[in-house]
Amino acid sequence: MNTSPIQHSTATRPLAAWTYQSAELAELEYENLFRTSWQFVCHVNEVPRQRDFFTLDLPRDPVLVLRGEDGVLRAFLNVCRHRGAKLLEGAAQCKARLSCPYHGWSYHTDGRLAGRPAEHTFADHDTQSLGLRALDIEVLCGLVFVRIVPGGASLHSMWAEYLPLIEPYRLEEMVPLQAAFLEEWDCNWKVGVDNNLENYHVPVGHPGYQRLLDSDLTGFMNVHGVAGSLSVLRPEPSSNWAERMYQRMAPALNSALPAQVRNTWSFFTMPPNTGLDLYGDSMDLFQFFPLGGQRCRVRYPIYVRPDTRREMRVLRHLNARINRRVGAEDRALCERVQAGLNSQDFAFGPLSSYEHCVLDMHARVQDACPVSRLPHNPGEGVLRQHNANMRAA
Ligand code: FES
Ligand SMILES: [Fe+2]
Repeated sequence: MNTSPIQHSTATRPLAAWTYQSAELAELEYENLFRTSWQFVCHVNEVPRQRDFFTLDLPRDPVLVLRGEDGVLRAFLNVCRHRGAKLLEGAAQCKARLSCPYHGWSYHTDGRLAGRPAEHTFADHDTQSLGLRALDIEVLCGLVFVRIVPGGASLHSMWAEYLPLIEPYRLEEMVPLQAAFLEEWDCNWKVGVDNNLENYHVPVGHPGYQRLLDSDLTGFMNVHGVAGSLSVLRPEPSSNWAERMYQRMAPALNSALPAQVRNTWSFFTMPPNTGLDLYGDSMDLFQFFPLGGQRCRVRYPIYVRPDTRREMRVLRHLNARINRRVGAEDRALCERVQAGLNSQDFAFGPLSSYEHCVLDMHARVQDACPVSRLPHNPGEGVLRQHNANMRAA
Protein backbone atom coordinates (compact mmCIF):
# COMPACT_ATOMS: atom_id res chain seq x y z
CA MET A 1 0.00 0.00 0.00
CA ASN A 2 1.22 3.44 -0.84
CA THR A 3 0.89 5.48 2.33
CA SER A 4 2.80 8.54 1.22
CA PRO A 5 0.85 11.75 0.79
CA ILE A 6 0.31 12.28 -2.94
CA GLN A 7 -0.47 15.87 -3.77
CA HIS A 8 -2.74 16.56 -6.68
CA SER A 9 -0.91 18.48 -9.40
CA THR A 10 -2.96 21.62 -8.86
CA ALA A 11 -3.13 21.48 -5.05
CA THR A 12 -1.52 24.83 -4.50
CA ARG A 13 -3.87 26.63 -2.15
CA PRO A 14 -7.08 25.97 -0.29
CA LEU A 15 -10.46 27.06 -1.57
CA ALA A 16 -11.64 30.58 -0.83
CA ALA A 17 -14.31 31.12 1.82
CA TRP A 18 -16.94 32.19 -0.73
CA THR A 19 -16.93 28.67 -2.18
CA TYR A 20 -18.52 27.56 1.11
CA GLN A 21 -21.36 30.05 0.74
CA SER A 22 -22.53 29.93 -2.85
CA ALA A 23 -25.69 28.08 -3.81
CA GLU A 24 -24.80 28.39 -7.49
CA LEU A 25 -21.40 26.80 -6.94
CA ALA A 26 -23.09 23.98 -5.01
CA GLU A 27 -25.15 23.30 -8.14
CA LEU A 28 -22.01 23.18 -10.29
CA GLU A 29 -20.29 20.91 -7.77
CA TYR A 30 -23.24 18.56 -7.83
CA GLU A 31 -23.18 18.42 -11.63
CA ASN A 32 -19.42 18.12 -12.05
CA LEU A 33 -18.35 16.18 -8.97
CA PHE A 34 -21.27 14.20 -7.60
CA ARG A 35 -22.89 13.01 -10.81
CA THR A 36 -19.53 11.83 -12.15
CA SER A 37 -18.54 9.91 -9.02
CA TRP A 38 -19.60 6.76 -7.19
CA GLN A 39 -22.49 7.22 -4.76
CA PHE A 40 -23.33 4.60 -2.17
CA VAL A 41 -26.94 3.36 -2.29
CA CYS A 42 -27.30 0.19 -0.20
CA HIS A 43 -25.77 -3.12 0.81
CA VAL A 44 -26.26 -6.17 -1.43
CA ASN A 45 -27.96 -7.84 1.53
CA GLU A 46 -30.70 -5.21 1.31
CA VAL A 47 -31.57 -6.44 -2.20
CA PRO A 48 -30.96 -10.23 -1.94
CA ARG A 49 -34.05 -11.55 -3.80
CA GLN A 50 -35.26 -11.19 -7.36
CA ARG A 51 -37.28 -7.96 -7.74
CA ASP A 52 -35.86 -6.41 -4.55
CA PHE A 53 -35.20 -2.72 -5.00
CA PHE A 54 -33.67 0.15 -3.03
CA THR A 55 -34.10 3.82 -3.91
CA LEU A 56 -32.05 6.86 -3.00
CA ASP A 57 -32.85 10.50 -3.72
CA LEU A 58 -29.65 12.29 -4.69
CA PRO A 59 -30.08 16.07 -4.70
CA ARG A 60 -31.29 16.16 -8.31
CA ASP A 61 -31.41 12.54 -9.34
CA PRO A 62 -33.65 9.86 -7.86
CA VAL A 63 -31.81 6.56 -8.36
CA LEU A 64 -32.89 2.95 -8.12
CA VAL A 65 -31.01 -0.30 -7.53
CA LEU A 66 -33.05 -3.31 -8.64
CA ARG A 67 -32.35 -7.04 -8.76
CA GLY A 68 -33.99 -8.33 -11.93
CA GLU A 69 -35.93 -11.53 -12.33
CA ASP A 70 -32.73 -12.88 -13.88
CA GLY A 71 -30.90 -12.24 -10.58
CA VAL A 72 -28.76 -9.44 -12.00
CA LEU A 73 -28.36 -6.26 -9.94
CA ARG A 74 -28.86 -3.12 -12.03
CA ALA A 75 -29.09 0.59 -11.40
CA PHE A 76 -31.43 3.05 -13.10
CA LEU A 77 -32.62 6.59 -12.82
CA ASN A 78 -35.81 6.19 -10.79
CA VAL A 79 -37.68 8.29 -13.34
CA CYS A 80 -40.40 7.32 -15.79
CA ARG A 81 -39.47 7.86 -19.42
CA HIS A 82 -42.91 9.29 -20.25
CA ARG A 83 -43.26 12.57 -18.34
CA GLY A 84 -40.76 12.11 -15.60
CA ALA A 85 -42.70 10.86 -12.59
CA LYS A 86 -40.60 9.22 -9.93
CA LEU A 87 -41.32 5.51 -10.18
CA LEU A 88 -40.61 3.80 -6.86
CA GLU A 89 -40.30 4.89 -3.24
CA GLY A 90 -38.27 3.43 -0.40
CA ALA A 91 -37.13 -0.18 -0.56
CA ALA A 92 -39.18 -3.37 -1.00
CA GLN A 93 -39.86 -6.16 -3.49
CA CYS A 94 -41.64 -5.01 -6.62
CA LYS A 95 -44.01 -6.89 -8.89
CA ALA A 96 -42.88 -8.48 -12.15
CA ARG A 97 -43.60 -5.14 -13.84
CA LEU A 98 -42.81 -1.72 -12.45
CA SER A 99 -45.81 0.44 -13.11
CA CYS A 100 -45.62 4.22 -13.14
CA PRO A 101 -48.23 5.74 -10.81
CA TYR A 102 -49.01 8.57 -13.27
CA HIS A 103 -50.22 7.08 -16.59
CA GLY A 104 -49.26 3.48 -16.09
CA TRP A 105 -46.28 2.95 -18.34
CA SER A 106 -44.72 -0.30 -17.13
CA TYR A 107 -41.19 -1.65 -17.19
CA HIS A 108 -39.57 -5.09 -16.97
CA THR A 109 -37.19 -5.61 -14.05
CA ASP A 110 -34.28 -5.34 -16.49
CA GLY A 111 -35.43 -1.81 -17.35
CA ARG A 112 -37.04 -2.42 -20.75
CA LEU A 113 -40.39 -0.79 -21.41
CA ALA A 114 -43.07 -3.48 -21.03
CA GLY A 115 -46.14 -1.58 -22.14
CA ARG A 116 -48.08 1.64 -22.05
CA PRO A 117 -51.81 2.29 -21.87
CA ALA A 118 -53.45 3.32 -25.15
CA GLU A 119 -50.50 2.19 -27.22
CA HIS A 120 -52.44 3.05 -30.41
CA THR A 121 -52.36 6.76 -29.48
CA PHE A 122 -48.58 6.98 -29.85
CA ALA A 123 -47.11 7.82 -33.22
CA ASP A 124 -43.86 6.04 -32.50
CA HIS A 125 -44.15 2.33 -31.70
CA ASP A 126 -40.43 1.67 -31.44
CA THR A 127 -40.22 1.24 -27.67
CA GLN A 128 -36.69 -0.23 -27.63
CA SER A 129 -35.17 3.07 -26.66
CA LEU A 130 -37.76 3.85 -23.99
CA GLY A 131 -36.39 1.70 -21.21
CA LEU A 132 -35.28 3.10 -17.89
CA ARG A 133 -32.03 5.03 -18.08
CA ALA A 134 -29.32 2.61 -16.90
CA LEU A 135 -26.54 3.80 -14.58
CA ASP A 136 -23.08 2.49 -13.81
CA ILE A 137 -23.20 0.09 -10.86
CA GLU A 138 -20.44 -1.63 -8.92
CA VAL A 139 -20.33 -3.63 -5.71
CA LEU A 140 -17.34 -3.27 -3.41
CA CYS A 141 -17.17 -5.68 -0.44
CA GLY A 142 -20.97 -5.93 -0.48
CA LEU A 143 -21.53 -2.17 -0.81
CA VAL A 144 -23.53 -1.08 -3.86
CA PHE A 145 -22.49 2.16 -5.55
CA VAL A 146 -23.94 3.84 -8.63
CA ARG A 147 -22.63 6.55 -10.94
CA ILE A 148 -24.91 8.76 -12.99
CA VAL A 149 -22.47 10.01 -15.62
CA PRO A 150 -20.89 6.87 -17.08
CA GLY A 151 -17.18 6.25 -17.35
CA GLY A 152 -14.22 7.00 -15.13
CA ALA A 153 -12.29 4.77 -12.77
CA SER A 154 -13.89 1.60 -11.42
CA LEU A 155 -14.47 1.34 -7.69
CA HIS A 156 -12.15 -1.64 -7.48
CA SER A 157 -9.33 0.24 -9.13
CA MET A 158 -9.87 3.20 -6.79
CA TRP A 159 -9.80 1.00 -3.69
CA ALA A 160 -7.46 -1.79 -4.85
CA GLU A 161 -4.54 -1.02 -2.55
CA TYR A 162 -6.82 -0.71 0.48
CA LEU A 163 -8.69 -3.99 0.02
CA PRO A 164 -6.25 -5.87 2.29
CA LEU A 165 -7.22 -3.39 5.03
CA ILE A 166 -10.96 -3.66 4.40
CA GLU A 167 -11.59 -7.32 3.56
CA PRO A 168 -10.77 -8.62 7.06
CA TYR A 169 -13.85 -6.77 8.39
CA ARG A 170 -16.07 -9.07 6.23
CA LEU A 171 -18.38 -6.26 5.16
CA GLU A 172 -20.12 -8.49 2.61
CA GLU A 173 -21.74 -10.44 5.49
CA MET A 174 -23.30 -7.36 7.03
CA VAL A 175 -26.92 -6.33 7.27
CA PRO A 176 -28.45 -2.96 8.15
CA LEU A 177 -28.77 -2.29 11.87
CA GLN A 178 -31.67 0.10 11.22
CA ALA A 179 -32.82 2.59 8.61
CA ALA A 180 -30.12 5.13 7.73
CA PHE A 181 -30.01 8.25 9.91
CA LEU A 182 -30.68 11.47 8.01
CA GLU A 183 -29.67 14.88 9.34
CA GLU A 184 -29.37 18.38 7.99
CA TRP A 185 -26.29 20.31 9.07
CA ASP A 186 -25.93 24.07 8.86
CA CYS A 187 -22.76 23.98 6.80
CA ASN A 188 -21.61 23.63 3.24
CA TRP A 189 -21.12 19.96 2.27
CA LYS A 190 -17.37 20.57 1.88
CA VAL A 191 -17.01 21.55 5.53
CA GLY A 192 -18.19 18.05 6.45
CA VAL A 193 -15.87 16.38 3.96
CA ASP A 194 -12.88 18.53 4.95
CA ASN A 195 -13.51 17.50 8.54
CA ASN A 196 -13.66 13.84 7.57
CA LEU A 197 -10.34 14.13 5.74
CA GLU A 198 -8.11 14.97 8.67
CA ASN A 199 -7.45 13.70 12.20
CA TYR A 200 -5.65 16.90 13.20
CA HIS A 201 -8.85 17.93 15.04
CA VAL A 202 -9.18 14.66 16.98
CA PRO A 203 -6.99 15.44 20.03
CA VAL A 204 -8.87 18.69 20.74
CA GLY A 205 -12.24 18.18 19.07
CA HIS A 206 -12.96 14.60 20.18
CA PRO A 207 -11.83 13.99 23.77
CA GLY A 208 -13.50 10.57 23.71
CA TYR A 209 -11.57 9.40 20.64
CA GLN A 210 -8.42 10.81 22.17
CA ARG A 211 -8.93 8.71 25.32
CA LEU A 212 -9.96 5.62 23.38
CA LEU A 213 -7.79 5.58 20.27
CA ASP A 214 -4.24 6.06 19.19
CA SER A 215 -5.09 7.99 15.99
CA ASP A 216 -2.87 8.17 12.94
CA LEU A 217 -2.84 11.94 12.45
CA THR A 218 -1.21 11.93 9.01
CA GLY A 219 -3.21 9.20 7.34
CA PHE A 220 -2.70 8.12 3.74
CA MET A 221 -4.18 8.79 0.32
CA ASN A 222 -3.90 7.37 -3.19
CA VAL A 223 -3.95 8.96 -6.64
CA HIS A 224 -7.76 8.77 -6.72
CA GLY A 225 -7.98 10.85 -3.56
CA VAL A 226 -9.27 7.89 -1.55
CA ALA A 227 -7.88 8.67 1.88
CA GLY A 228 -7.77 6.83 5.16
CA SER A 229 -6.29 6.42 8.59
CA LEU A 230 -6.06 3.59 11.08
CA SER A 231 -6.80 4.20 14.75
CA VAL A 232 -5.93 1.54 17.30
CA LEU A 233 -7.70 1.04 20.63
CA ARG A 234 -5.39 2.20 23.40
CA PRO A 235 -4.28 -0.48 25.88
CA GLU A 236 -4.52 1.83 28.88
CA PRO A 237 -8.12 2.04 30.17
CA SER A 238 -10.09 5.18 29.37
CA SER A 239 -11.38 7.29 32.26
CA ASN A 240 -14.86 7.12 30.65
CA TRP A 241 -16.86 3.99 31.58
CA ALA A 242 -18.41 3.35 28.14
CA GLU A 243 -15.04 3.68 26.41
CA ARG A 244 -13.40 1.51 29.07
CA MET A 245 -16.01 -1.22 28.64
CA TYR A 246 -15.59 -1.07 24.87
CA GLN A 247 -11.82 -1.45 25.23
CA ARG A 248 -12.31 -4.41 27.52
CA MET A 249 -14.97 -6.23 25.49
CA ALA A 250 -13.98 -5.61 21.86
CA PRO A 251 -10.91 -7.86 21.44
CA ALA A 252 -12.60 -11.02 22.73
CA LEU A 253 -15.91 -10.41 20.95
CA ASN A 254 -14.12 -9.74 17.67
CA SER A 255 -11.97 -12.85 18.00
CA ALA A 256 -13.38 -14.30 14.76
CA LEU A 257 -11.74 -11.44 12.87
CA PRO A 258 -8.05 -11.43 11.94
CA ALA A 259 -5.85 -10.02 14.69
CA GLN A 260 -4.91 -6.87 12.77
CA VAL A 261 -8.47 -5.52 12.76
CA ARG A 262 -9.83 -6.66 16.13
CA ASN A 263 -8.58 -3.52 17.81
CA THR A 264 -8.46 -1.20 14.81
CA TRP A 265 -10.96 1.40 13.72
CA SER A 266 -10.29 2.18 10.06
CA PHE A 267 -11.59 5.44 8.59
CA PHE A 268 -11.74 6.14 4.85
CA THR A 269 -13.01 8.96 2.64
CA MET A 270 -13.73 8.70 -1.09
CA PRO A 271 -14.12 11.90 -3.10
CA PRO A 272 -16.20 13.80 -3.23
CA ASN A 273 -18.59 13.04 -0.37
CA THR A 274 -18.38 9.55 1.15
CA GLY A 275 -16.88 8.41 4.44
CA LEU A 276 -16.51 4.75 5.38
CA ASP A 277 -15.85 3.83 9.02
CA LEU A 278 -14.97 0.26 9.91
CA TYR A 279 -15.09 -1.17 13.43
CA GLY A 280 -14.75 -4.77 14.58
CA ASP A 281 -18.41 -4.88 15.58
CA SER A 282 -20.00 -2.77 12.83
CA MET A 283 -19.45 -0.27 10.05
CA ASP A 284 -21.07 2.95 8.91
CA LEU A 285 -21.03 5.31 5.97
CA PHE A 286 -21.19 9.08 6.02
CA GLN A 287 -22.53 10.80 2.92
CA PHE A 288 -22.69 14.56 2.56
CA PHE A 289 -25.02 16.11 -0.03
CA PRO A 290 -25.36 19.83 -0.81
CA LEU A 291 -28.55 21.61 0.17
CA GLY A 292 -27.78 25.01 -1.28
CA GLY A 293 -24.57 26.77 -0.33
CA GLN A 294 -24.65 26.75 3.45
CA ARG A 295 -26.51 23.62 4.37
CA CYS A 296 -26.05 19.92 3.70
CA ARG A 297 -27.83 16.62 4.17
CA VAL A 298 -25.96 13.86 5.96
CA ARG A 299 -26.93 10.23 5.42
CA TYR A 300 -25.56 7.78 7.94
CA PRO A 301 -26.38 4.07 7.53
CA ILE A 302 -24.95 1.49 9.97
CA TYR A 303 -24.33 -2.19 9.19
CA VAL A 304 -23.44 -5.16 11.40
CA ARG A 305 -22.58 -8.81 10.92
CA PRO A 306 -25.47 -11.04 12.03
CA ASP A 307 -24.52 -11.91 15.63
CA THR A 308 -27.10 -12.55 18.31
CA ARG A 309 -24.73 -12.71 21.27
CA ARG A 310 -25.95 -10.48 24.06
CA GLU A 311 -22.42 -9.18 24.64
CA MET A 312 -22.18 -8.19 20.98
CA ARG A 313 -25.37 -6.16 21.33
CA VAL A 314 -23.78 -4.44 24.33
CA LEU A 315 -20.60 -3.76 22.34
CA ARG A 316 -22.58 -2.22 19.49
CA HIS A 317 -24.53 -0.15 21.97
CA LEU A 318 -21.26 1.16 23.43
CA ASN A 319 -19.94 1.89 19.95
CA ALA A 320 -23.14 3.77 19.08
CA ARG A 321 -22.88 5.76 22.29
CA ILE A 322 -19.26 6.71 21.59
CA ASN A 323 -19.79 7.51 17.92
CA ARG A 324 -23.07 9.39 18.45
CA ARG A 325 -21.16 11.76 20.67
CA VAL A 326 -18.34 12.09 18.13
CA GLY A 327 -20.91 12.73 15.40
CA ALA A 328 -22.52 15.47 17.50
CA GLU A 329 -19.08 16.99 18.12
CA ASP A 330 -18.31 16.92 14.39
CA ARG A 331 -21.62 18.55 13.58
CA ALA A 332 -21.08 21.31 16.15
CA LEU A 333 -17.53 21.88 14.89
CA CYS A 334 -18.62 21.98 11.25
CA GLU A 335 -21.40 24.45 12.00
CA ARG A 336 -18.91 26.64 13.90
CA VAL A 337 -16.61 26.56 10.88
CA GLN A 338 -19.47 27.60 8.60
CA ALA A 339 -20.25 30.51 10.91
CA GLY A 340 -16.65 31.69 10.48
CA LEU A 341 -16.51 31.02 6.74
CA ASN A 342 -19.55 33.24 6.25
CA SER A 343 -17.44 36.22 7.32
CA GLN A 344 -16.67 38.50 4.37
CA ASP A 345 -12.96 38.72 5.02
CA PHE A 346 -11.99 35.23 6.06
CA ALA A 347 -9.35 33.23 4.19
CA PHE A 348 -7.94 29.88 5.34
CA GLY A 349 -4.66 30.10 7.22
CA PRO A 350 -1.77 27.78 6.40
CA LEU A 351 -2.66 24.10 6.53
CA SER A 352 -0.69 21.51 8.48
CA SER A 353 0.90 18.53 6.74
CA TYR A 354 -1.74 16.58 8.70
CA GLU A 355 -4.26 18.28 6.39
CA HIS A 356 -2.73 17.16 3.08
CA CYS A 357 -5.91 15.28 2.13
CA VAL A 358 -7.98 18.46 2.58
CA LEU A 359 -5.77 20.27 0.10
CA ASP A 360 -6.09 17.40 -2.37
CA MET A 361 -9.88 17.54 -2.09
CA HIS A 362 -9.84 21.28 -2.72
CA ALA A 363 -7.80 20.69 -5.85
CA ARG A 364 -10.43 18.23 -7.04
CA VAL A 365 -13.14 20.85 -6.55
CA GLN A 366 -11.00 23.41 -8.39
CA ASP A 367 -10.43 20.99 -11.27
CA ALA A 368 -14.11 20.10 -11.56
CA CYS A 369 -15.30 23.72 -11.18
CA PRO A 370 -12.53 26.10 -12.32
CA VAL A 371 -14.51 29.12 -11.10
CA SER A 372 -13.79 27.95 -7.54
CA ARG A 373 -10.15 29.01 -8.07
CA LEU A 374 -11.18 32.67 -7.99
CA PRO A 375 -10.45 34.51 -4.75
CA HIS A 376 -13.87 36.19 -4.83
CA ASN A 377 -17.31 35.17 -5.98
CA PRO A 378 -17.80 36.60 -9.50
CA GLY A 379 -21.49 36.95 -8.59
CA GLU A 380 -24.42 34.62 -8.03
CA GLY A 381 -26.24 34.30 -11.33
CA VAL A 382 -23.13 34.61 -13.50
CA LEU A 383 -21.02 31.98 -11.82
CA ARG A 384 -21.96 29.23 -14.26
CA GLN A 385 -20.98 31.41 -17.19
CA HIS A 386 -17.67 32.32 -15.57
CA ASN A 387 -17.05 28.65 -14.96
CA ALA A 388 -17.71 27.82 -18.61
CA ASN A 389 -15.40 30.64 -19.75
CA MET A 390 -12.61 29.49 -17.45
CA ARG A 391 -12.99 25.91 -18.61
CA ALA A 392 -12.79 26.99 -22.25
CA ALA A 393 -9.75 29.24 -21.69
S1 FES B 1 -45.07 9.89 -16.22
FE1 FES B 1 -44.97 7.76 -16.04
S2 FES B 1 -46.60 7.06 -17.21
FE2 FES B 1 -46.68 9.18 -17.45
FE1 LIG C 1 -14.25 14.52 13.72
